[in-house]
Amino acid sequence: MDATLPVDLFGGGVVAAPMAGGPSRPDLVRAVGAAGGFGFLAGGYKAPEALAADLDAMDGALPFGVNLFVPAPAEADRDAVLAYRERLLPEAAAVGADVPEPRWSDDDGYPAKLELLLGRVPAAVSFTFALPGRDAVVALRAAGAFVLQTVTCPDEALAAAELGMDALVVQHPDAGGHSGSFLGLRPFAGTLPELVAAVGSALSAAGAHLPVVAAGGIGTPGAAAAARDAGAAAVQLGTAFLRTPEAGTNPVHRAALADPGPGRTAPTRAFSGKWARGLENGFMRRFADAPSAYPVLHHLTAPMKAASVRAGSPERTSLWAGTGWREGRDEDAAAVVARFAR
Ligand SMILES: Cc1cc2nc3c(=O)[nH]c(=O)nc-3n(C[C@H](O)[C@H](O)[C@H](O)COP(=O)(O)O)c2cc1C
Repeated sequence: MDATLPVDLFGGGVVAAPMAGGPSRPDLVRAVGAAGGFGFLAGGYKAPEALAADLDAMDGALPFGVNLFVPAPAEADRDAVLAYRERLLPEAAAVGADVPEPRWSDDDGYPAKLELLLGRVPAAVSFTFALPGRDAVVALRAAGAFVLQTVTCPDEALAAAELGMDALVVQHPDAGGHSGSFLGLRPFAGTLPELVAAVGSALSAAGAHLPVVAAGGIGTPGAAAAARDAGAAAVQLGTAFLRTPEAGTNPVHRAALADPGPGRTAPTRAFSGKWARGLENGFMRRFADAPSAYPVLHHLTAPMKAASVRAGSPERTSLWAGTGWREGRDEDAAAVVARFAR
């Protein structure tokens, strides 16, 4: 892991995580880049046309990255999904929303988005939820993109390295939002620096020299320094940027993050069918037994979540947050970049 990130891309050592669902709008990515950090647009949960509009809004001035969710073979148990849908009906009705019929295919246009990025090549492309095909990695690198994969354990790091990735985003279970785990192993039990070190050792033992970007629960500059001391070339922060004015975080999510009252984050599958960490609310507690059925559950809960936000209620929407959320401040993106810079 002695390799370093290209300085012109990740010079400040602070990466603004891709955050699908609204937060990572072009305003945020531009502000992070202008402040000497490196920002990612979120291509997940987005039609190819909407991603193209985000690319248009970037002006081509500063380098930035784009993140894609890689579709993984659906493993949803139909009976479990249908039973879950029945239980969702009164929840959705409570905020005046419907629950759509299940959509069994992951039809958010991944191939079209990949094609788009091969034509309008950003400085970096990162993948999460599964490994992309080797062809995609080769084509993006040949087109000039720096290609990264999110991994959550040493075994996933080795699989990604074998695919020819330029770098890895090593994501700890303390991270806000979805876990990028793709081998389905038990969440890493140690700290983020221990995870970074474990990945570094595994890569070195395999003769792979990839730089690592550390992510997950980094709430203070001290936590960022500890990840760097363990070998990370940069840190990727999500939650720390959610309260910035440049982020597209919805008002209900912002208010929940700033709420000084009792609260905690917890992992949940209730909103999407895939494990993600967020501020615990009533919906998460009532649906702690949600089945593994991504992205089928995401589509089922989407209207309820939107209606909950419209109603100003944090009770039936996802409030993604990492364990460091209490350290968050109301400050602009440039201030976050400056605070966490190397
Ligand atoms: C609101 C939110 C949305 C996220 N969306 C994505 C995404 O679209 N793609 C992705 O690779 N990671 C996503 N993540 C995870 C981040 O990439 C990163 O791993 C995480 O934010 C780091 O932990 P932290 O939030 O404690 O800083 C998201 C995280 C949050 C908080």
